[in-house]
Amino acid sequence: MTLFRLPITPLSFSPLPRAPWLPVALLGAGLGSSLGCGDTLDALENGDTFGRIYDTDEFQTCSGCHAPDAEGRTADIEATQDWSTRDTAYTTLRGDASGMIGNFQGCNGVPFLGESAEQSLLVASLDETVRAQFSLPGFPNCTPDAISDQTAKIGGPLPAGLLQDLKDWIDSGAP
Ligand code: HEC
Repeated sequence: MTLFRLPITPLSFSPLPRAPWLPVALLGAGLGSSLGCGDTLDALENGDTFGRIYDTDEFQTCSGCHAPDAEGRTADIEATQDWSTRDTAYTTLRGDASGMIGNFQGCNGVPFLGESAEQSLLVASLDETVRAQFSLPGFPNCTPDAISDQTAKIGGPLPAGLLQDLKDWIDSGAP
């Protein structure tokens, strides 16, 4: 599923002839200064990018295991994430992985959300390419082999558009 996006074109950069468009340019400048660039973007995207990701069928499946009383929860599960609600998921994803044992314990302590999508354990757990190249300064034991493929647990790969939406959300600072 692809999230709805509006192209953002700063009006003041419009290559159109100046005079007739002046009022529009002024309006654009006014909006820009009253809201700030980031706010304008948020407003145009209608706010809750993470909520839209959370609401997809694929991410709804995570709570079958990653929630305090989940049926699929096992003793070796990654224990920090709580996908029960949009807000618990949003909050717990700001933490670090914990509770894993055996082959996977090397990623305990690693943040789910890194500085970029490529440096995020959450993305590495869902994207084979990112997983294969995963290497985070300070966490030498969280190697590609220590990251388990979570798409196997939800019945198949994420649709490309949804994976891209997740990466874009993280690359824009996970607002
Ligand atoms: C069937 C139960 C189950 C489901 C469904 C599930 N997980 Fe997991 N998850 C686990 C277990 C167990 C681990 C610990 C490592 C392992 O054994 O795979 C884990 C580990 C993780 C990790 C730690 C890094 C890693 O991959 O090892 C992340 C991140 C993660 N899960 C995210 C998710 C997300 C996001 C979803 C939904 C798209 C999801 N999981 C669905 C059981 C599940």
